[in-house]
Amino acid sequence: MKAIVVTDQAAGTAGMRLVERPEPQAAINDVVVQVHASGFTSGELTWPSTWTDRLDRDRTPSIPGQELAGVVTALGYGTTGLSVGQRVFGLSDSYRGGTLAEYVAVEARNLAPLPGDVDFTVGASVAMPGLTAWQGLFVHGRLQAGQSVLVHGAAGAVGSMVTQLAREAGAYVTGTGRAADRQKALDFGAQEFLDLETDVLEDVSGIDLVFDVIGGDITKRSAGVIRPGGTLVTIAGPTEARPADGMAIDFVLVSDRAQLGEIVQRVRDGRLRTNIGNIATLDDAVAAFNPTKRISGKTIIRVRP
Ligand SMILES: NC(=O)c1ccc[n+]([C@@H]2O[C@H](COP(=O)([O-])OP(=O)(O)OC[C@H]3O[C@@H](n4cnc5c(N)ncnc54)[C@H](OP(=O)(O)O)[C@@H]3O)[C@@H](O)[C@H]2O)c1
Repeated sequence: MKAIVVTDQAAGTAGMRLVERPEPQAAINDVVVQVHASGFTSGELTWPSTWTDRLDRDRTPSIPGQELAGVVTALGYGTTGLSVGQRVFGLSDSYRGGTLAEYVAVEARNLAPLPGDVDFTVGASVAMPGLTAWQGLFVHGRLQAGQSVLVHGAAGAVGSMVTQLAREAGAYVTGTGRAADRQKALDFGAQEFLDLETDVLEDVSGIDLVFDVIGGDITKRSAGVIRPGGTLVTIAGPTEARPADGMAIDFVLVSDRAQLGEIVQRVRDGRLRTNIGNIATLDDAVAAFNPTKRISGKTIIRVRP
């Protein structure tokens, strides 16, 4: 089968190559999925799980990509809950990756049924950002109606999902990002927008929950805009920053069938809009992940036409 592989961490996305690889086999509780659409998150190439297995052994050449939508073609020994021919979407385990390929083996519990009226590209595009937003807001952030949320990178893949889900949950949402992203963030439902290039983050105060996707200095400065006892949620790695008397949580998402169901239901009834910036074929995937101009939104690989 055709697949994208990486072998050199220092090379980043420029080190991606399209090659032939053997088709994966289904292990216990796995399904094999014929991938129709696939997604990749830029941070993946910095995650240890892309390069080593759980025992810290080199697992290169690795096939990156965790996000997928496709059709089940085989079941592993003992696998229940999904059947051959079923449309599915979700995430593969980060230590396996493998979705930038024609076939991938995934634990069945990490996938959910994809309704027939939701396109594969849409399914692949909402899995990672949708789950990350859901878990950051509701599982880790314990968001309540009426609270204020500041969403960094609100026009980005994760930020646009955070913005929409927080609004739907009854929060007051301030989005942030670059000046060029103001209208896009407002269109996704942010009630206010703070341009991180020219506005002063410290002018904001009393926020109940900050959802950070940027990291570094932005994470540190964000702790100061949170009310005492409030919450800082970040997906950009561990941080020393902490709101006064409050909590700072950094987390890596996990797949969850029930949450995927909640997300796809919202997509179907129009409450959640996906944020796709570019769709490319597997043959063009390396170029698509090394764009010469800025792409706002997710790049999705349409593996099967
Ligand atoms: N921990 C987890 O579970 C988890 C899950 C998903 C994603 N992630 C990580 O979260 C990050 C965001 O993912 P994503 O898919 O949402 O990426 P994305 O689509 O690129 O969104 C990030 C947004 O933030 C903006 N931004 C970044 N730095 C900025 C700055 N200094 N000032 C103003 N705006 C800035 C980006 O604008 P530009 O495009 O112009 O830079 C973009 O609009 C990635 O690092 C990803 O690896 C972690």
